[in-house]
Amino acid sequence: MFDLTGKIALVTGASRGLGWAMAQSLARSGAHVVLNARDPAALDARVGELHSEGLSGEAAAFDVNDTAAVERCVRDTVARHGQLDVLVANAGINHRAPIGDFALADFQRIMNTNLTSVWVLCRAAAGVMAPRRQGRIILTGSISAINARGSISAYVASKGAVHALTRQLAVELAPSEITVNCIAPGFFATEMNTPLLENQEFNDWVCRRTPAGRWGRVQEIGPAAVFLASDEASYVSGLIMTVDGGFTASM
Ligand SMILES: NC(=O)c1ccc[n+]([C@@H]2O[C@H](COP(=O)([O-])OP(=O)(O)OC[C@H]3O[C@@H](n4cnc5c(N)ncnc54)[C@H](OP(=O)(O)O)[C@@H]3O)[C@@H](O)[C@H]2O)c1
Repeated sequence: MFDLTGKIALVTGASRGLGWAMAQSLARSGAHVVLNARDPAALDARVGELHSEGLSGEAAAFDVNDTAAVERCVRDTVARHGQLDVLVANAGINHRAPIGDFALADFQRIMNTNLTSVWVLCRAAAGVMAPRRQGRIILTGSISAINARGSISAYVASKGAVHALTRQLAVELAPSEITVNCIAPGFFATEMNTPLLENQEFNDWVCRRTPAGRWGRVQEIGPAAVFLASDEASYVSGLIMTVDGGFTASM
């Protein structure tokens, strides 16, 4: 079960953190993975890691905010491999500031990367998946879209919209046999959370507040992506799958 042999998957934000963990799990399950991020050297190193394990992958360095580059990547992937089976739209950023000090430019930067680029990616992927009447679209949301927290108003708004977009596209693309789901991670120890990890008080709070009693480990996100990408998940769509050690289930 959950064998992805022969599947072609594009993962954005795949050079580190959760995106890399999902890309690695998809490749280990048999998929050929197109890894995206902005830094080409970091991507080449990750592709090297996949190849050294005998896995299949290639790099596609571009900024997800560059609409032409997104569309070119999807077109080129189909030209090279004949299909795109799985999109994991994962690249995302955060900016922390109280609302009174939050610059409009920062709000727009977060919304562009976390929401607009995701919509553009979904549009491009759906365009090539629909004629084949198959596809798996997986978005990275956040438990911050469910439970709010101080100083990250743009992030929370962008991820709330990603959760809503998941439901919308699940409905809209179901007749084309494309499933659309969202993985909503809890607190994972990645570079994005460096300031939180370095704050002992916050660190202690995460461990107390999370029923599992600890931060998530990046390798704990990959299996969720593998399941949602698999043929076996053909009737799962519109799901917001929290992977959060029980955080959102607890009061
Ligand atoms: N870590 C958590 O606890 C947590 C919790 C909930 C949700 N999430 C979500 O999970 C996703 C991944 O987060 P993470 O913690 O793994 O972050 P991370 O460690 O900072 O990794 C972010 C990845 O996205 C890439 N990226 C950033 N901006 C990009 C752009 N404009 N175009 C293309 N690639 C871009 C980065 O590479 P380059 O800088 O080279 O482009 C990197 O590969 C995000 O959507 C985040 O909101 C994370």
